[in-house]
Amino acid sequence: MRHIVVTGGNKGLGLAQTRQFLSLGDHVHVVSRSRGDLDGLPQERLSHYEVDLANWRDTGWLDEIHGKAGHIDGLVNNAGVNFRKPVWDTGADEFDHLLGVNVKAMFMASGRYIALEMEHGGNIVNISSMGGLAALRNAAAYVTSKTAVIGLTRAIAGDARSLNFRCNAVCPGFVETNMTRTAFKADPARYDQIVGRIPSHRMGTSAEIAAAVAWLVSDDSAYVNGVALPVDDGYAIAT
Ligand SMILES: NC(=O)c1ccc[n+]([C@@H]2O[C@H](COP(=O)([O-])OP(=O)(O)OC[C@H]3O[C@@H](n4cnc5c(N)ncnc54)[C@H](OP(=O)(O)O)[C@@H]3O)[C@@H](O)[C@H]2O)c1
Repeated sequence: MRHIVVTGGNKGLGLAQTRQFLSLGDHVHVVSRSRGDLDGLPQERLSHYEVDLANWRDTGWLDEIHGKAGHIDGLVNNAGVNFRKPVWDTGADEFDHLLGVNVKAMFMASGRYIALEMEHGGNIVNISSMGGLAALRNAAAYVTSKTAVIGLTRAIAGDARSLNFRCNAVCPGFVETNMTRTAFKADPARYDQIVGRIPSHRMGTSAEIAAAVAWLVSDDSAYVNGVALPVDDGYAIAT
């Protein structure tokens, strides 16, 4: 049985990834501060680890999972936070917190995962965003972080392929979750503008993002390494 770690796998996009891996017969190890919506899922192949990734220096949770599972076949760095402000309104502490969760925790977890599975290899999928490919407005800290995610993904892809690891990023388009609901509530005109630009004029579903994540973790994508895959219905290339 495969063991897959999904950070933030208890809500939103991550919950759909947890469901997807469970449906494939995997054991899913969810890492987040709360249990979120996990209680509604079948529990036999599900474990939860209460971790605040803002404490990004601490990767002991990966050692704990590795110790219990024996091996980790895939690490999905999905947990993330967002707030909508231009750079001039962003305070040092909020910038620091966002980078801690979105980038530094991902960086440290990826490094520890590779160290733990050095003899076997493995697979990392990092969740970036449209904000990693273009400058989403009023989200300077988020855009900075999601662009860094793509750089980290490429660095790992190049450095760790010879150790039998692959590392790819997924850049979801706009999907309805708590994160986007909060952002659009603060700016309804932006919702109309964005949905108007999506070629199918609909937001994506978390299951559609999860399918892409699962494909990248699988051997079906064996020759795919270091990509930043938009799953956005063509939003990024539509004018
Ligand atoms: N929704 C979209 O349209 C969209 C588009 C592009 C990219 N994304 C990316 O997709 C990922 C998931 O987003 P989402 O929309 O599903 O957001 P969400 O519904 O707000 O979920 C965020 C997840 O991250 C976890 N998390 C947040 N802070 C954490 C911390 N300090 N320590 C541990 N876990 C933490 C949360 O769990 P707890 O609160 O229980 O800790 C939750 O599971 C993020 O990286 C986001 O940037 C989303």
